[in-house]
Amino acid sequence: MIIAVTNQKGGVGKTTTTINLSASLAVLGYRVLVIDLDPQGNSSDGLGINTNKLDNTIYDALVNDTPLSDIIIPNQLKNLFIAPANISLSGAETELASDISRPFKLRKSIRPEISKYDYIIIDCPPSLGILTVNAIVASTDLVVPIEPSSYALKGMSMLMSTILKVKDDLEHYVRFMGVVINMYDETIALHASITQAIIEYFTARKVFNSRICRNPKIPEAEIHGQSIQQYAPDNPAARMFMALAKEVDKKAND
Ligand SMILES: Nc1ncnc2c1ncn2[C@@H]1O[C@H](COP(=O)(O)OP(=O)(O)OP(=O)(O)O)[C@@H](O)[C@H]1O
Ligand SMILES: [Mg+2]
Repeated sequence: MIIAVTNQKGGVGKTTTTINLSASLAVLGYRVLVIDLDPQGNSSDGLGINTNKLDNTIYDALVNDTPLSDIIIPNQLKNLFIAPANISLSGAETELASDISRPFKLRKSIRPEISKYDYIIIDCPPSLGILTVNAIVASTDLVVPIEPSSYALKGMSMLMSTILKVKDDLEHYVRFMGVVINMYDETIALHASITQAIIEYFTARKVFNSRICRNPKIPEAEIHGQSIQQYAPDNPAARMFMALAKEVDKKAND
């Protein structure tokens, strides 16, 4: 199961979902690899990696054909591993420009690792450029975090047409697993009505029942370089992500 966590809108919770969904699946006993495919390197930072001090990153896997196994770092949490990124990845777009196999770089680099993990989860950058296309082409499933603010659905048709383009032009079918409503606040009336609009747009089957509420422990854990499962396992935020992980796991076996 290879899941791309994607939404070209910035700051909706892609990285937070990647880190904490992955950690929750690891706590459930699965072997999980996080792939940081964002030049911001936020999921690497959020899992305690000093991104300034890396010899090899996902950039080398994509551009220099460095084996993914050479860049993977185990996390403090058992069963959790990460292929980190840093700002060097921002050069990948131009450096791959003349490479005819550019949409397939990540898929090729993941292939030898697939059998070693139960879940591979890819944190995408906030764009629909070549990195996100690489993530979709490498994935079996997509998870899309959405913040229920105004404009939440703006741009969704662009994401959908990218998925269709990958299917038609690159002949890779990826399943739309579901939308994660993030930063949900039940005291804000607008959140309930936007959530309803999201359910109508995607259908209820494609929206996870587990919603992630706004919770200050979430950014706090990231600043400490830990998943919520490690930083505050008894906090409601840890329980929300655990519920999401169980739902993902159930859908994975559908
Ligand atoms: N449920 C939440 N409660 C509180 N803070 C949150 C929650 N989800 C995310 N955040 C915080 O909001 C900020 C943006 O979240 P995150 O980095 O996960 O979004 P992103 O979609 O990955 O952003 P980008 O598009 O820049 O990659 C982060 O500081 C994160 O800690
Ligand atoms: Mg991010």
